Amino acid sequence: MPNYLIALDQGTTSTRAILYNRELNPIASISEELPLSYPQAGWVEQDPEAIWQSVLHCIQQLLQQNDMLPEQIAGLALTNQRETTLLWEKASGKTLYPAIVWQDRRTADECLALKQNDEASIRAKTGLLADPYFSASKLQWLLEQLPEARQRAEAGELCFGTIDSFLLWRLTGGNVHATEASNASRTLLFNIHQLQWDPELLTLFQIPAALLPEVRDSATDFGHCSAGLFGHPIPILSMLGDQQAALLGQACVKPGMLKSTYGTGCFAMVNTGDSPLQSQHQLLTTVAWRIQGKATYAMEGSIFMAGATVQWLRDKLGIIQQASDSETLAEGIDYQQTELLIPAFTGLGAPHWQPKVQAALFGLSRNSGKAEICAAALRSVAYQTQDLLLAMAQDGISIADIRVDGGMTVNHWFLQALADLTQHSISQSKISDATAFGTAFLAARQLGWVSTLDAIQSLWQRAAQFSPQLSPGQQSICYQNWCSAMGRLLADPS
Ligand code: G3P
Repeated sequence: MPNYLIALDQGTTSTRAILYNRELNPIASISEELPLSYPQAGWVEQDPEAIWQSVLHCIQQLLQQNDMLPEQIAGLALTNQRETTLLWEKASGKTLYPAIVWQDRRTADECLALKQNDEASIRAKTGLLADPYFSASKLQWLLEQLPEARQRAEAGELCFGTIDSFLLWRLTGGNVHATEASNASRTLLFNIHQLQWDPELLTLFQIPAALLPEVRDSATDFGHCSAGLFGHPIPILSMLGDQQAALLGQACVKPGMLKSTYGTGCFAMVNTGDSPLQSQHQLLTTVAWRIQGKATYAMEGSIFMAGATVQWLRDKLGIIQQASDSETLAEGIDYQQTELLIPAFTGLGAPHWQPKVQAALFGLSRNSGKAEICAAALRSVAYQTQDLLLAMAQDGISIADIRVDGGMTVNHWFLQALADLTQHSISQSKISDATAFGTAFLAARQLGWVSTLDAIQSLWQRAAQFSPQLSPGQQSICYQNWCSAMGRLLADPS
């Protein structure tokens, strides 16, 4: 009897597979780190074969190490880093170029050129902005730069996909070229009101329709893994962009509920129900999920550097050996410190949307050392979260409690700073992998193991809560300093 599910979370810096039982308890997990490459300033790429191999290894290892037969797996649930762009040959499945990762800024000039005339209509149709973060300009770059790519695309020889489509194509042995609405809504080519590819946007970005995957519900029959891969044709039952999956995994199924995930970047997302609310303050409108043809929407603030800032402390500054050292190093540094880091290492996302601005450290003194810089790096993520919450408040969205998840949330010093600097209560869920859990829940619903989406609310339990200890007056002084540093950087981005 197939009584288990595997959720596969293909993220920017790692691939993770988690085995769930029928009660949706996680039984075991496997993860594998993935490298990124930075071939030029502002470029971020990944090897698609390394991504694919990591997916195969993780699933195979998970089965082997837990003595599971593939026949015991009722379904596979996928979730993935969004926007990352791939182009491959239909005939062979071979990719034409490395994956252009969501953080890549190579098309900043093209997007800036679109701002004046086209941004309003892009926004109205997609809920997004003209920014290199999204897939369309990356795909346009590939079609322009790769020899014969445009002709071959028009002839129907190539496929475009975000990571979900690419994995689905590979898992089904090239049988299915499809995506689902949450991933499609991050491409800048998808009309989030009509829930279909938008012909005017395809013309604007010069994208041949023949390249595009079919857009399906987030939980549906996506086909079967080819039997040769795992020895049994495991069905693929759900796919969801990773931030949308975390929204569901944090049980934010009612309008007004918010989660903030601190992985490579930070993505604060609030459920807005069946209304695609358009922000007046530079936030994104996005599809949370589509079930039986009906979309649920969310508003999102995207920050490009969260856990990646801690990686920078480790890999480039060498002031910590491992991410967890940042908690010990920052301990004891108080809020009056003058050092402020603006981690615009890959430009700035919401609410500033400045793809060309570069990172800066302000307020250094003779007293500034490793600990102060580490604390400034951690606080930069809290301050940026506050920027997002203020933009949401200005859009009329008031948040009672922030549900947090992601790798950085093991750092309790950071979570206290987050409570203090946002003046919000911060809740950690008992479910540690909200992203994987969200897509696993969708697959369980598809199998009839759970009856409604709302049922996820009874599975959410608070593990810890952090309340503000800093007074509102002190917070206001700290936040003013952050805003004035940001103002200085944006006034002179060079
Ligand atoms: O939009 C990018 C996002 O999906 C990446 O997520 O978890 O790899 O930081 P993550």
